[in-house]
Amino acid sequence: SQRRQVDETLSPFRLSQKQLQLVKSRMRMGLEAGLKSKGPSAIKMLPSFVYRTPDGTEHGKYLALDLGGTNFRALLVNFKKGLQQNTRLYHKIYTIPLEIMQGSGEELFDHIAQCVSDFLDYMGMKNAHLPAGFTFSFPCEQTSIDTGTLVSWTKGFKATDCEGHDVVSMLRDAIKRRNEFDLDIVAVVNDTVGTMMSCAYEDPECEIGLIAGTGTNVCYMEDLKNIEKAEQKTDKMEREEGTPEGGEEKLDDGTKREKKVGDAEIPKMCINTEWGGLGDDGSLNDIITPYDIEVDQNSLNPGKQRFEKLTSGMYLGEVVRQVLLDLTRGGLLFRGHVTEALKTPGIFETKYLSQIESDRLALLQVRSILQQLGLDSTCDDSIIVKEVCGAVSHRAAMLCGAGMAAVVDKIRENRGLDHLNITVGVDGALYKLHPHFAEVLQETARVLAPQCNVTFLPSEEGSGKGAALITAVARQKL
Ligand code: BG6
Ligand code: GLC
Repeated sequence: SQRRQVDETLSPFRLSQKQLQLVKSRMRMGLEAGLKSKGPSAIKMLPSFVYRTPDGTEHGKYLALDLGGTNFRALLVNFKKGLQQNTRLYHKIYTIPLEIMQGSGEELFDHIAQCVSDFLDYMGMKNAHLPAGFTFSFPCEQTSIDTGTLVSWTKGFKATDCEGHDVVSMLRDAIKRRNEFDLDIVAVVNDTVGTMMSCAYEDPECEIGLIAGTGTNVCYMEDLKNIEKAEQKTDKMEREEGTPEGGEEKLDDGTKREKKVGDAEIPKMCINTEWGGLGDDGSLNDIITPYDIEVDQNSLNPGKQRFEKLTSGMYLGEVVRQVLLDLTRGGLLFRGHVTEALKTPGIFETKYLSQIESDRLALLQVRSILQQLGLDSTCDDSIIVKEVCGAVSHRAAMLCGAGMAAVVDKIRENRGLDHLNITVGVDGALYKLHPHFAEVLQETARVLAPQCNVTFLPSEEGSGKGAALITAVARQKL
């Protein structure tokens, strides 16, 4: 019967506890391997050169540039010492056209410089020569806080002549070419790191950053001694910067802020895991479906970012579309008509998945969304479509939860604790807009890491504010 066939199609998406446990342990092995290996590994585990979360002493005006999510953002952030709630923030959003994302590197960075120029005009700060942080949400090999060599583009970017180059130099060159304003680029920051920092500014227990958006990724505070591949670099840093002290600290306004005791003496560094690469060595092949293979093959980076392609906004809609195509070809949907709309890559954006899965929406409304997308549906069709969306996004949230369980258990074991309380700063459209993703993620992490109490804290202003904080921290050292 139709029912049975739909169930059969969706059954590979319904992961068992046992499968999720396996994903957790593979993630854990991937994290460990990435920390050790000097050569390439599926999970890159990139040192960020961020040694601590903010402590409230950060102050001053900073510019933050934020590239790699749905939009490019320019921000001006003003921190007041010890007065987190009085942080002032101005921002402007710019879209990056597809032909720029996939054109030449020079064009891309010229475009960014043009957006920055517009923002400085808007703020009336063309001559300010501000210190700036650059959130660049792609894997970068860093040797210091202000250099980052792009390892490979991910998500929807594919500009030429960028991979293997320092993106900070590329941005500086573009600003020079424009010859119109000056910036002092102090830090390059992954969006996960920016998100962690901005959430840690409010909650000192925040030592993990998670993005569940266009792409997916995690960063966390790792013990420096475990980061074998950063050894030579970090020996030097330790001598230069010393290590943070515990205890209490008096801020300028007379308030006190408690510093974390216990683990405060242990030197740490934030690691950008690039966990989206889990499975690039074949380790997820047993859960990958033919639909996932199709999505991977049609992507800009076949064979890469396999975990990301199961779990993030840029790909979930495509997985859904592949399943719908298959059901339609099998005569189980849309009266067997494969329409042009259904053949169009990218029609199911995260926002539509989120709407279709909303429990507040009546089926008639689901049908009207499908209609907007150019898909004529019957009532039965709309039920099946909703079920497909649910299966795909549920799997995504569970996989993220399994990955998160691996990360928090690793931190707990690092610290030799039976029980760990920890906060995860989160951003991304999938986390923020989807009606069930956040809940399923949290529940899965709870079940798979029962010795950890994980609080998810949505970031308020994106990772740009975090990049500004990192810039402030780096500046205080100069
Ligand atoms: C925000 C950032 O924190 O979240 C972006 O400022 C980031 O840089 C984004 O990439 C992720 O969101 P999305 O859903 O736009 O990919
Ligand atoms: C991709 C990028 C990673 C980023 C994530 C979320 O996985 O490779 O650097 O953090 O997307 O934006």
